[in-house]
Amino acid sequence: MTDTPNDLSTPLARLRSRAWFDNPDNIDMTALYLERYLNFGLSLEELQSGKPIIGIAQTGSDLSPCNRHHLVLAERVREGIREMGGIAIEFPVHPIQETGKRPTAGLDRNLAYLGLVETLYGYPLDGVVLTIGCDKTTPACLMAAATVNIPAIALSVGPMLNGWHKGERTGSGTIVWKAREMLAKGEIDNAGFIKLVASSAPSTGYCNTMGTATTMNSLAEALGMMLPGSAAIPAPYRDRQEVAYLTGKRIVDMVREDLKPSDIMTRDAFLNAIVVNSAIGGSTNAPIHLAAIARHVGAELELNDWQTHGHKVPLLVNLQPAGEYLGEDYYRAGGVPAVVAELMRHDLIQEGALTVNGQTIGDNCRTATIEDERVIRTFETRLVEEAGFVVLKGNLFDAAIMKTSVISAEFRAQYLSNPEDPEAFEGPAIVFDGPEDYHHKIDDPALGITRETLMFMRGAGPIGYPGAAEVVNMRPPAYLIREGVHALPCIGDGRQSGTSASPSILNASPEAAANGGLALLKTGDRVRIDLGRGTADVLISDEELAERRAALVAAGGYQYPASQTPWQEMQRAVVGQLNTGAILEGAEKYQRIAQT
Ligand code: FES
Ligand code: MG
Repeated sequence: MTDTPNDLSTPLARLRSRAWFDNPDNIDMTALYLERYLNFGLSLEELQSGKPIIGIAQTGSDLSPCNRHHLVLAERVREGIREMGGIAIEFPVHPIQETGKRPTAGLDRNLAYLGLVETLYGYPLDGVVLTIGCDKTTPACLMAAATVNIPAIALSVGPMLNGWHKGERTGSGTIVWKAREMLAKGEIDNAGFIKLVASSAPSTGYCNTMGTATTMNSLAEALGMMLPGSAAIPAPYRDRQEVAYLTGKRIVDMVREDLKPSDIMTRDAFLNAIVVNSAIGGSTNAPIHLAAIARHVGAELELNDWQTHGHKVPLLVNLQPAGEYLGEDYYRAGGVPAVVAELMRHDLIQEGALTVNGQTIGDNCRTATIEDERVIRTFETRLVEEAGFVVLKGNLFDAAIMKTSVISAEFRAQYLSNPEDPEAFEGPAIVFDGPEDYHHKIDDPALGITRETLMFMRGAGPIGYPGAAEVVNMRPPAYLIREGVHALPCIGDGRQSGTSASPSILNASPEAAANGGLALLKTGDRVRIDLGRGTADVLISDEELAERRAALVAAGGYQYPASQTPWQEMQRAVVGQLNTGAILEGAEKYQRIAQT
């Protein structure tokens, strides 16, 4: 390792970009590569001096408002890269806007992944800054960095400032669920609905609640892929600019040190991410994305690890939807390092896991302190005893998860209060085939939904609703809400927004569209859920189930809507199920390809 960027006797002499720009064995191609990269103003001296070429994978654009501030931050990243003797080359990543993409942003995670793999592999890049933020941008970037395995560092765009309405915090997404209920009850009109929802988005940045964005950015830091303490900095804060600059500086040294994603994203790092996810009250999308990243980097990780290592960890972070506060409060209270330090005091962190700054997570976080105990609690003042996920299985699916920490007192009283069996409940099923079916029918009294009903959403998995829709958390019919029933148990093969506090059973795999057990369920069947035993079963005989399966197969399998685009069709043909990350199954064998 050296501090002199122009010393060609150092590891820099082996930079992969030199195969393009300074390859004596192929002077023809070198000339061709050079003349075009020279044409916007880079000089021959820069391109042939052995300076690391650092990509800035730009996920922000006018189509991706959550990440758009990266267009500004990239200037500071460039300055950091340049200061350390690197050359910055910024390029676009396929846009993913969680709330704007039809049919669902989930469809585009693997597409952005594919595109970024090709870019990182096929162009003269020695390292990359991954600009992350909105839900799927984080996993897409980390998955691609894992596959290619060149030095990579993540930079979060940061959350929006806190939203406010009439003196109360209004959080992204979470306010939508509340506003929908108020609209259904007639407490607000359409204009009031929009005003209330818009109040939650007062600035640039990503969702300010503990939704999937805050979750995945926190987990990128817990995985060691981001500078310590940087995940939670709100987008408009001056510190965000500063850390953009520091991130640019650091990636150049990472290239010199040859510090790669596979050195950082080890099994220990994933176990740390699981524990942190419980403590922050993280999204139910996290198991999907972490499984995907782990598979691409070749780290061992199973869905059961979430229950084994994460279930008993208490909830420490008091952010909406599980708690009260928002992103600015989280940062001021100490962010991820304060949470990790508290978990370390209880021996829950694999302290030796390496991070992008070249130090271990233990060394980075050991002295971090909680600055506001209302927002980040200690174990003594924890918000929920066991905040992780429970993994369920049965004759309806092989695997699904439930975030038990968001079960409300009302829900507990209704479903989990049988003194003989306090963790089990059963009731008649109502089955919806996709979100449109649900929206059309839900308020129809003829369905006969009562407070005993369990609501099922199927046809919403990675194949059925390509990419898997965030639709499993369904509100009860308006007439039940008016009677004071705010939540019915929801179960499905789709996902749920991280901003929803609904205690749903999610990510059921295999999905109905892969002819999983949910495809056999009929409205009116009784279903029993046992959270203690981790089971979910339809209460019909094996013979009856076998007959239904035979009939399903004879009918050509579970029917779902046709693809609307070429990518939908291609992804449907090769995508895996949610419990194993919903990756493109053929892609997993391509690992560490920059080294081959
Ligand atoms: Fe982009 Fe929430 S919609 S972060
Ligand atoms: Mg989402």
